[in-house]
Amino acid sequence: MKLSFTEALSGKFRSRAPSAPLRPPRFMFIEVNKRCNLKCQHCDFWQRNDDDRDNYLSIAGRSALIAEFAELNPNGNVVICGGEPMLDLEDYFSLARSCRANGVRALSVINGTRIRSAAMAERMMLEGPHEISISLNSPYEAQHDETRGVRGAFKKAVNALRLLVDARRRLGINSTRIYVMGLVYGSNYQAIDDFYDLVLNDIGADKLKLNFLQPSFGQAGDEDPFFAAQGAVDPDALVAILKQCNEKYGLGFSPIWMGQVGMYFRSLNAATDRERGWSSTAATQEHICNSYDRNIMVNHYGVARLCFSVKFPGATLREPGDLSRFWLTSEKIRADMRKCNQFCGISHSVRRESSTLLGREKMLDHQASAPILSPSSDMTFAIASGMRALARFGRSPSS
Ligand SMILES: C[S@@+](CC[C@H](N)C(=O)[O-])C[C@H]1O[C@@H](n2cnc3c(N)ncnc32)[C@H](O)[C@@H]1O
Ligand code: SF4
Repeated sequence: MKLSFTEALSGKFRSRAPSAPLRPPRFMFIEVNKRCNLKCQHCDFWQRNDDDRDNYLSIAGRSALIAEFAELNPNGNVVICGGEPMLDLEDYFSLARSCRANGVRALSVINGTRIRSAAMAERMMLEGPHEISISLNSPYEAQHDETRGVRGAFKKAVNALRLLVDARRRLGINSTRIYVMGLVYGSNYQAIDDFYDLVLNDIGADKLKLNFLQPSFGQAGDEDPFFAAQGAVDPDALVAILKQCNEKYGLGFSPIWMGQVGMYFRSLNAATDRERGWSSTAATQEHICNSYDRNIMVNHYGVARLCFSVKFPGATLREPGDLSRFWLTSEKIRADMRKCNQFCGISHSVRRESSTLLGREKMLDHQASAPILSPSSDMTFAIASGMRALARFGRSPSS
């Protein structure tokens, strides 16, 4: 069998997912910046900067994309990403306001360091995203601060959560969700019960979303020591803990998702070169992603892709209509992605299976109610401009 371009790049392409009818994208990810004020051991964004921001798509351009996305899917969701997106506060709120003005839901994950006052928490409620997730690496202060690389980070994140919960109650706002995005890895998976207790019972947030360690985001070097060390999780013990928490806190977990979490860590344990991070030759035993059926990721420069991986081509969005055109003309990319078993498949942003049965129902509702689109075979736009973008911006590791 002849290997395609992407297959030749990596040995991580095994089983193929069946193709589904093309529907409008459910999520558009849009990046504010790529720098950060923490120094996480599992993410190298803090080693980057925004010195080339003159090349970024303007905020007006990004807002225009939000409007175009809202036309493609009026029930869609826009995820405002970084780096730490709240470091560019006015850009951040500007994108959130565009989402509100266009009637789409805005989601955002932040490290919590920029919400320090009741006034800022109120601004978040009134002008910010509809779904705010603050990241925690642990229910324990010392572990969070150590892995996030900055002392005091835990206190700031928990304080931000409490300010948001208070502001929401004070303002009587029901539409904003306050979540914690909890990272699970080797040294903390046995503390998942304590994590739920802190988030749900002590802080009073709406949900703890579990996020499992992948190779370092924006991996800067050839080696990935945190992923090598902390990818070691006992899959059976982890799934047993998930089941206990499911019972104890009434979480409504999907058994299929729990099975895939176990499979993911079995795959990591079998990898012989985990220390290479994203360059590892290992892969997940099963294909668990469906990013290509639901996501458009637009980076700082206005390059659209169907996932965060730069192993697949994208397209530079230059004029109105390009976003829809990219979505409709990317069947060849989708065909390649259906065979991709990279580690990022476990990410909550791209995985096929929702963690809960309710989330699964929502996904099925979308499939049942969203219109079926006719893909176009005009691939010249997508592939050619994707390759130009890769050449122009060089290797930009998965984020
Ligand atoms: C890249 S950060 C950007 C937003 C913000 N700076 C923050 O930390 O929440 C988004 C999410 O990705 C998670 N993340 C970063 N590196 C990761 C990795 N190697 N594996 C899994 N999740 C990771 C973070 O913990 C965070 O919840
Ligand atoms: S995970 Fe977030 S807080 Fe940590 S370095 Fe990356 S961007 Fe910064």
